[in-house]
Amino acid sequence: MEKKVLYSAVQPSGNLTIGNYTGAIRNWVKLQSEYECYYAIANMHAITVRQDPAELRRRTVELLALYIACGVSPEHCTLYVQSQVPQHAELTWVLNTMTYVGEMERMTQFKDKSAKHAENINMGLMDYPVLMAADILLYQTDIVPVGVDQRQHLEIARDIAARFNNRFGETFRLPEAYTLKEGAKIGSLQEPTKKMSKSDENPNASVYLSDDKDTVIRKFRRAVTDSDNRIVASEDKPGVTNLLNIYSAFAGCTVAEAEKQFEGKGYGDFKLAVGETVADVLAPVQAEQKRLLADKAYLNQVLKEGADRAYKTARKTLSKVYRKIGFYQGE
Ligand code: TRP
Repeated sequence: MEKKVLYSAVQPSGNLTIGNYTGAIRNWVKLQSEYECYYAIANMHAITVRQDPAELRRRTVELLALYIACGVSPEHCTLYVQSQVPQHAELTWVLNTMTYVGEMERMTQFKDKSAKHAENINMGLMDYPVLMAADILLYQTDIVPVGVDQRQHLEIARDIAARFNNRFGETFRLPEAYTLKEGAKIGSLQEPTKKMSKSDENPNASVYLSDDKDTVIRKFRRAVTDSDNRIVASEDKPGVTNLLNIYSAFAGCTVAEAEKQFEGKGYGDFKLAVGETVADVLAPVQAEQKRLLADKAYLNQVLKEGADRAYKTARKTLSKVYRKIGFYQGE
């Protein structure tokens, strides 16, 4: 039986956090044998906010090395950089003509980012969801693992696909959201009811995948808890609950087991244990990423093969689209 197609992408902007690891990358590894996976580095999405060119280039390779270091297999998945497959931009243009300005103006992320980057509300920022729809639809994707913040974008991708199909006949498969069962929610260490974010201005709020052991331990030591001293997960203890979630995600146990393990311990010992556990998981990933980054020939080869493979599928879909809408492609 043919495997279902799964599509996901991460932008090479900002440093990835342990939330990206448990919420996205680690799941990519689990899903790669069950599905035909396309994993992209979304650099075209990244430039919708200003990027330093040298940094964007560096982060792109670093992200590639990180995926592989985490266990994403370039042999089993199509791992590629979005800008290397021209059909993303091409399909976006076509889909733009079937997307309404009003719909885009109403998107939550557009409104948030417009408020945050008021000096740079560019067309690309507004068009972001259409580019994302093109990403997904080019590969006839069945499922897209998404967190809550990307839910609305997936909905619009479905709407656009259905609109196209209605007008021109069956062309795109309608993608479904795939909700991850575990580890999807890691809060900020400083404001635990907020999601841990790679763009948080407070450096103590997020633990980055690139943080060394001392930094990880220091950040956990400063994590907010509360004034009583019990280590239990409950709604009125968001800080402690967040740390228990993080611990269970990295130690591979349940929250109940973690509570039991830390029963009677103080917050100081608890935070140290969480920090050490996280740092011990990150260390081998960082070492492998470093090793890969020293082997640019290998990384370039992976990217070339990924782009070639993605191109073949994307070309088929785009050619079908061009035919349906009446773009002359020779007889
Ligand atoms: N917008 C996504 C994010 O910032 C990244 C992304 C780009 C994506 N294209 C995608 C995710 C297609 C899923 C499917 O997280």
